[in-house]
Amino acid sequence: MPLPPDYPPSHWRLADIAYDQIDVTLARDDSFLFETLASASFVEIMSEMYSANLVEHFEGRNDVTAWLRDSWQHEEVQHGEALRAYVQKVWPEFDWERGFAAFRAEYSAVCTVELLEPRRALELVARCVIETGTATFYRAMHDYVREPVLRQLLSNIKSDEAAHYAHFRRHYEVANAVERHGAFAVLRTIWRRVLDVRGEDAYIAFKHVWLARHPGQEFPAAEWKRYNGTVRSLARHYYPFGMALTMLVKPVPLAEPLKRMILAPLRLLARFASAG
Ligand SMILES: [Fe+2]
Ligand SMILES: [Fe+2]
Repeated sequence: MPLPPDYPPSHWRLADIAYDQIDVTLARDDSFLFETLASASFVEIMSEMYSANLVEHFEGRNDVTAWLRDSWQHEEVQHGEALRAYVQKVWPEFDWERGFAAFRAEYSAVCTVELLEPRRALELVARCVIETGTATFYRAMHDYVREPVLRQLLSNIKSDEAAHYAHFRRHYEVANAVERHGAFAVLRTIWRRVLDVRGEDAYIAFKHVWLARHPGQEFPAAEWKRYNGTVRSLARHYYPFGMALTMLVKPVPLAEPLKRMILAPLRLLARFASAG
């Protein structure tokens, strides 16, 4: 099977984003946007920690560890820094540092190397699921947002995430040529990670964004429910379900016609989900 092309590292830098040209009126009143961008900035900046875990997990595979250390980690942290700078420009009253410190303390306790898949090829499949999640999330956010500077930033980030997916998939193909996991093991890994994709990190991030915004108050569980209700209704309009399914099924070691057979009913289901 031919390998996907090797994507070059990201070519944009924080200094390229025109923060002084933000049209604040197109973003500031949108509390969903604030909560989503602030949460995403927390999670992305923490990639530095997953990177150390991943590098340790892939010790000996120098091509993987070099890419993780030299490109992937810096790009993920840059996503976080760029989103943070945007949040601080549009919502300057938000105490980002305070929220992040509390998030970091709680999150560090759950993010350890034991949570990774013990078999390397399967961990690379799991990374493909995570990058599918981020690539489709930023694409949906890009389509939702009206503010031009943020649209440009989200466009840069979504391209990086798609490139990360391609990298992890390439490394997976190499690893699985040796480990030889079958369709069942790969699908099981994909399924497990899909269930996890809007899991603990999103919740912990949201909670600490809320707490930093409402100092001294207790976090009401209803706020998380309210936020998820908004996510679900916006996803029907903006989430690229077809793109997500295609990316998820790609690493499954099955012949292309069989993959298409799996994809057809899933696409139909996704269309119902987005119309519902
Ligand atoms: Fe990212
Ligand atoms: Fe990524």
